Amino acid sequence: MSDLFSKFDPIIAQRESLLQAGLTDPFNLVMEKVESPTVAICNGKRTILLGTYNYMGMTFDPDVVAAGKKALDEFGSGTTGSRVLNGTYSGHRAVEQALKDFYAMEHAMVFSTGYQANLGIISTIAGKEDYIVLDIDSHASIYDGCALGNAQIVPFRHNDLEALEKRLKRIPEGAGKLVVLEGVYSMLGDVAPLKEMVRVSKENGAMVLIDEAHSMGFIGEHGRGVAEAQGVIDDVDFIIGTFSKSVGTVGGFCVSNHPKFEILRLVCRPYVFTASLPPSVVATAATSIRKLMDSADKRAHLWENSKRLHAGLRQLGFTLGTNEPQSAIIAVIMPDLEKGAAMWEALLNEGLYVNLARPPATPAGMTLLRCSLCALHTEDQVGEILGMFAAAGRATGCIS
Ligand SMILES: Cc1ncc(COP(=O)(O)O)c(C=O)c1O
Repeated sequence: MSDLFSKFDPIIAQRESLLQAGLTDPFNLVMEKVESPTVAICNGKRTILLGTYNYMGMTFDPDVVAAGKKALDEFGSGTTGSRVLNGTYSGHRAVEQALKDFYAMEHAMVFSTGYQANLGIISTIAGKEDYIVLDIDSHASIYDGCALGNAQIVPFRHNDLEALEKRLKRIPEGAGKLVVLEGVYSMLGDVAPLKEMVRVSKENGAMVLIDEAHSMGFIGEHGRGVAEAQGVIDDVDFIIGTFSKSVGTVGGFCVSNHPKFEILRLVCRPYVFTASLPPSVVATAATSIRKLMDSADKRAHLWENSKRLHAGLRQLGFTLGTNEPQSAIIAVIMPDLEKGAAMWEALLNEGLYVNLARPPATPAGMTLLRCSLCALHTEDQVGEILGMFAAAGRATGCIS
């Protein structure tokens, strides 16, 4: 019998060699207690959280928590069914209405995760005869959606407008075309030139889907994302998003103005063949989304945090993923995995949690320490964070 697990041997060996060197496993950390969106207890120690997707700090919002408790009492712990059978409660309709209001769009469809939203929408609208043109650094859920639908995949170089245009022009006349882009790319925290990319896509007869997972709630005047900030939201056919980041719970969605959109509820397999979200989750999501509509002050504070951290890290001598802060994600580039893991552990010992990101999740084989800020980080906390980076950076030789 051949061992189907032998393909994992290289990654098993790499992990073992890191752990044998005495390092804490960076992918196995336990949050023993979570005190707030910015502080948890890890290994018995107070730890500032700088590696969550809790951009708008909604997880402990009293109204959000109260809505979840009320729904749990009134509707029970789960729906035990698909949206198309017994799994649509009034709360599912309410969260879809909140999304329609948030984005000012006609249709909203909620999935059990953002991963499933990409999987479902992309695989259902782009099939075997169709072409999907996508940024090469797209999220795994986008690639998996393309694979599930069996469409022809045409990747282009990250954020390269000319490359996108060239690929589009090569597609046979009359073929179905979907361009898939992200507002913020989550590894480096850089923003896509959506204004030009959406224009070029439309000029070449393509439909456009934008994944705004990392910009919802924060970027754009109303927090609708990069398409809003760059003035092209009305030309976008589908926006994909998630409840697992700024909204502060779990779930995914697609919003659209396409007149035939509702048919997707019957033909989209990752929507039909899975259980719907629990009532408590949709209640927290709806409350959070409505509060995010009115969060201009928090958005402004989050920008201040992002600018302060970016400038401070740069001044300390770290190499960053972007020249300017473009989102709530600031990526610190490490020379290799060993140094990255050592720096990650040194930060944890200082009392700071960040994400260690490595290939294949990262572009160009990079190892990154990914910092994601929260609107509830105080100015003092950002100062503390910079102090920890200075100490850990010097201890590990990452900076002098
Ligand atoms: C760009 C992007 N799209 C989709 C997802 C999936 O979201 P979810 O956590 O809701 O499955 C993520 C998650 O990290 C993401 O970064």
